[in-house]
Amino acid sequence: MTTRPLRSSEWFAGRDELALQNRSALRSMGFDADFYAGKPVIGIANSWSELNNCNLNLRDLAEAVKRGVIAAGGLPLEFPTISLGEEFMKPSAMLYRNLMAMDIEETIRSNPIDGVVLLCNCDKTTPAQLMGAASADLPTIQLNGGPRTVGNWRGQPVGSGTDMWKYWDDVRSGKMSREEWNELERCISCGVGACNVMGTASTMTSLSEALGVMLPGVSSLKANDARRLAAAEATGRRIVEMVHEDLRLSKIFTPAAFDNAIRTLSALGGSTNAVVHLIAMAGRRNIKLPLSRFDELAQQTPFLVNCSPSGKYLMDAFHAAGGVPAVLSELKSLLNLDCLTVTGQSIGENIAAARSHDTDVIKTVADPMAADGALAVVTGNLAPSGAVIKTSAASPHLMQHRGRAIVFNDYADMLARVNDPALPVDADSVLVLRNAGPKGVPGFPEWGMIPVPQKLLEQGITDIVRISDSRMSGTSYGTVVLHIAPEAAAGGLLGCVRDGDEIELDVEERRLHLHLDDAEIQQRRAEWQPLPTKHLRGYPRLYIDHVLQANEGCDFDFLRPESDSAVEFVPPTVGRS
Ligand code: FES
Repeated sequence: MTTRPLRSSEWFAGRDELALQNRSALRSMGFDADFYAGKPVIGIANSWSELNNCNLNLRDLAEAVKRGVIAAGGLPLEFPTISLGEEFMKPSAMLYRNLMAMDIEETIRSNPIDGVVLLCNCDKTTPAQLMGAASADLPTIQLNGGPRTVGNWRGQPVGSGTDMWKYWDDVRSGKMSREEWNELERCISCGVGACNVMGTASTMTSLSEALGVMLPGVSSLKANDARRLAAAEATGRRIVEMVHEDLRLSKIFTPAAFDNAIRTLSALGGSTNAVVHLIAMAGRRNIKLPLSRFDELAQQTPFLVNCSPSGKYLMDAFHAAGGVPAVLSELKSLLNLDCLTVTGQSIGENIAAARSHDTDVIKTVADPMAADGALAVVTGNLAPSGAVIKTSAASPHLMQHRGRAIVFNDYADMLARVNDPALPVDADSVLVLRNAGPKGVPGFPEWGMIPVPQKLLEQGITDIVRISDSRMSGTSYGTVVLHIAPEAAAGGLLGCVRDGDEIELDVEERRLHLHLDDAEIQQRRAEWQPLPTKHLRGYPRLYIDHVLQANEGCDFDFLRPESDSAVEFVPPTVGRS
């Protein structure tokens, strides 16, 4: 038990008249001071929402967390946050990731909270919570809702998102009927929980575990598995101990821990979105993660996890094979094993007994899916600040490619023309989508997996080089270059590309180049005009004015500390005036 004064005591045991007022507020909720006096107050940040099907089991988990908190001698106080549901939010839940991070940080800052449990699941909820909590820097532990049950369609398991994209191409090429497509709808989502592939949600919760913010082995437990409730109770017990140990997030979020996360991302063949989120999370502790660090570590890290969309299995098989601890165990020789975690032990101690129980799902270092990374960073005159390609989900024959550009000026233009039989596209073309980045929409949506034009699908061509300043869903695949920075709307050269220009992608050489002479480039830059924006006020305006580029994590400039000293969380001044 700590002898340090609790942060919450500033509210409940401070100036007499204010303390009485605050205690009476708790009393109005039915808490007698005899019950909570001297106990840590544990905030439970709950992103449950009926607008977010992926997070619907978080209410049950919150109750189990509370049981654990009370059993360990804490006072649990649950609070709602905004929730970011990938399915419904348009143009993209990413637009609101920073808003959710602000919600988390400011709720923690302004309330009598000693430690916090973050309940997440759908893609952006995990990084948003960790960004806000990293700025608040209290003892923090995260718990996800878990992947949803795998459905079956005509005897085949169907993975969320990924199989939908695959079957949609079959519908467009005439291989699948409308009746079959409708039948698929009833089979693809069997219950609440996150997408059951290694998409962005499972990538981010795996990385939370690899960073040491989640209890070991928990992230991949299925949403409706009773062991998840037990894990929630253990999470509640552990956060009370963490408050007594003063085990703050700043002790866990270190440069070494982020290197571990980058290596884990590469071994997972995980979502490209994680690159943006890890940079943003690290940035909140003034830790710099240049894209070159991702490329460097990815090249030294084997790709191990045979899960969709980069492999064939789904999250239930990943969990049965040992989940994240088994992956970390395989990577042991490459990891910083001393990194502290929420267990109070190092990551090395946490995984001492872990191993892969199925080496076809979680491969060994001696027999990996690929010897080097699942991601690569390319640069060149088209992307001086970098762009990302998920090599594990791309076509090997397109990794070195030179072709003529077909340019879509924005998403609406792409939708209107991509399947037009008159589009002059062939297997060698390079499809370009622009004005789809952080400032350009705004919100950096997942539009980067431009559909393969129908006329190519009908010829049996299922992949083609596509480049954009947009993102793609973690459930997507193909030879798709993403996150081009600077984006077109910020004056990047992407905005000057014209139909017929020659573009070269060379993943081996890490190159993305527009073959134009300098004089032509200068002239086009002089002629370039940004698209007009409709967003003149409100949150989208704030976003456009302050969002950083993809290679900087797309956080708001004013949310990142300018120096180590600026990382400190401003303490509350308790009082009404
Ligand atoms: Fe929520 Fe995939 S849509 S996790």
